Amino acid sequence: MKVLLIGSGGREHALAWKLAQSPLMTEFYAAPGNPGIAEHATLVSVNVDDHDAVIAFCKDKAIDFVVVGPEAPLVAGIADRLRREGIAVFGPSAAAAQLEGSKGFTKDICARYDIPTGAYQRFDNAPQAKAYIREQGAPIVVKADGLAAGKGVTVAMTVDEALVAVDDCFEGAFGEAGAEVVVEAYLDGEEASFFCLSDGKHALALATAQDHKRVGEGDTGPNTGGMGAYSPAPVMTPEMVERTMKEIIEPTMRGMAESGYPFSGVFFAGLMITANGPELIEYNVRFGDPECQVLMMRLKSDLLPLLLATANGTLDQVKAEWNEDPALTVVMASKGYPGSYEKNTPIRHVPEAGEGAKVFQAGTALKDGALVATGGRVLNVTASGKTVGEAQSRAYALLDKVEWDNGFCRRDIGWQAIKREKA
Ligand code: AMP
Ligand code: GLY
Repeated sequence: MKVLLIGSGGREHALAWKLAQSPLMTEFYAAPGNPGIAEHATLVSVNVDDHDAVIAFCKDKAIDFVVVGPEAPLVAGIADRLRREGIAVFGPSAAAAQLEGSKGFTKDICARYDIPTGAYQRFDNAPQAKAYIREQGAPIVVKADGLAAGKGVTVAMTVDEALVAVDDCFEGAFGEAGAEVVVEAYLDGEEASFFCLSDGKHALALATAQDHKRVGEGDTGPNTGGMGAYSPAPVMTPEMVERTMKEIIEPTMRGMAESGYPFSGVFFAGLMITANGPELIEYNVRFGDPECQVLMMRLKSDLLPLLLATANGTLDQVKAEWNEDPALTVVMASKGYPGSYEKNTPIRHVPEAGEGAKVFQAGTALKDGALVATGGRVLNVTASGKTVGEAQSRAYALLDKVEWDNGFCRRDIGWQAIKREKA
């Protein structure tokens, strides 16, 4: 099978590493990829925003299957275009990708199909949003409707903070994404991420994870795309997984199909485990980054048939087997991230990892043959272990062999789960 992978992050390196192990793979390309992905696939310089160019490449190489990593090309309709051309693709249509692209869309699906989530209202102007906030009181959550690179959400502990967030949105702090605002009830509990494949009719639960969004130790400081993650999430007991499937995933899948947007791809459900059970915070329509890295470390089954079954509507005919051992990943980022940081700093050494460990690359590039850091999040040092604690020790032991002066990481990834293990 000839496969094209779209994307260039740590998530895509993890997907590439796993896909390349498939005996079904005959030719493997990645666009644009990165030096880590180049260990497994041939990099091609097709501009993925240019759908005509992607189609032309696929036809030229007789690509059988395209795997889309990030959300932006999905929201831009790349999966629709590939399907129209008769090329199998892993990833939802633009219409179904609204589950990630519009928070208001998702909330309306939840309301219509009785999916547990915080009570909410949608607004297209500041005065009405503010009146609603004053009526509801704090804590309360204000969200820009569209894609805002993870920055469009304010969890406001006071009414004043929420009112400022409303002004920020409507004054253009998040561009077009803030032209509409969702105000929703604050949910109290422990967060977890749940991943589940859907072919539109059948769902196949994958695994759970927890990430660390804040840049600083003890989960402090500004939000990032994620500074580390581990799988499974201890709070996601078999009962919680079963409830999430019945109360959240299955009604979403049914609701999307009934609404005319059957969902084919991966549901990445951000959950709050409240006193009432799992409630939906948000959906993403692609694997998490860095959550994907720990999922791939734990997946025993061949990934390629699972993604193909998702694309072909035959998810009821496949099974996913998982290693029970937890996996943990630590993100190494450029000093200054998530603010401004220096680019093209040299990475002198990336250690080889043995069984059950791997350094995945995200924002890296080759310059005159030498590896440099080009992005905010740069390396994802990943390891498994008998416990989260052991996975953490192995990951940091590997990380300490990385030679990159401009890199930093949190030293406490997994602390919540490890505290539980020690209790
Ligand atoms: P999102 O971009 O929707 O994932 O939101 C970013 C973060 O804001 C989430 O991971 C939560 O920590 C927090 N958050 C979002 N919505 C709520 C809510 N309704 N109640 C409490 N926290 C929330
Ligand atoms: N780590 C969170 C995300 O991929 O959105």
